[in-house]
Amino acid sequence: MTRIAVYPGSFDPPTRGHTDLVERSLALADRVIVAVARNAVKEPLFSVEERLDMLRTAVGDHARILYDSFEGLLVDFAHAVGATLIVRGLRAVSDFEYEFQMAMANRHLRPGLETVFLVPPEDATYLSSSLVREIARYGGDVSGLVHPVVADALRRRFAR
Ligand code: PNS
Repeated sequence: MTRIAVYPGSFDPPTRGHTDLVERSLALADRVIVAVARNAVKEPLFSVEERLDMLRTAVGDHARILYDSFEGLLVDFAHAVGATLIVRGLRAVSDFEYEFQMAMANRHLRPGLETVFLVPPEDATYLSSSLVREIARYGGDVSGLVHPVVADALRRRFAR
């Protein structure tokens, strides 16, 4: 049986924490689908296609990693692609309440679809897309926090 995991998120933009988690999740499943939620952010900085391109470049080509996007409920997407696992990152206690609520709601909607949490590298526990956006917006250095293509894209976006 092929075990498929979905790693969903906004990824606006993808950070080093996200890419680390994609690679780490390969230990849990035969195939990992990195899924950008189309309706999660009202006014995203990057389009879904831009975010998918950035993820592909940042993570690199891998036969067991697929990239996709979804609209509507995550559980419906997971079911449609035959996934049995949802992977989410847990950085700090502050993430817990929201993640727990979401995991419970998803289990209520589709029992049997398990959510597993992975922790990021120690030096990425404070990292988030919103923090990266904020630093880049005011011209700060985001190298080391994101892949160079993401840093470039941020520079170009905020140079306008
Ligand atoms: O990176 P994020 O913004 O923390 O990701 C949140 C995401 C996209 C995983 C979550 O908002 C989501 O799954 N949205 C789709 C709608 C849904 O199924 N919500 C959870 C059940 S109520």
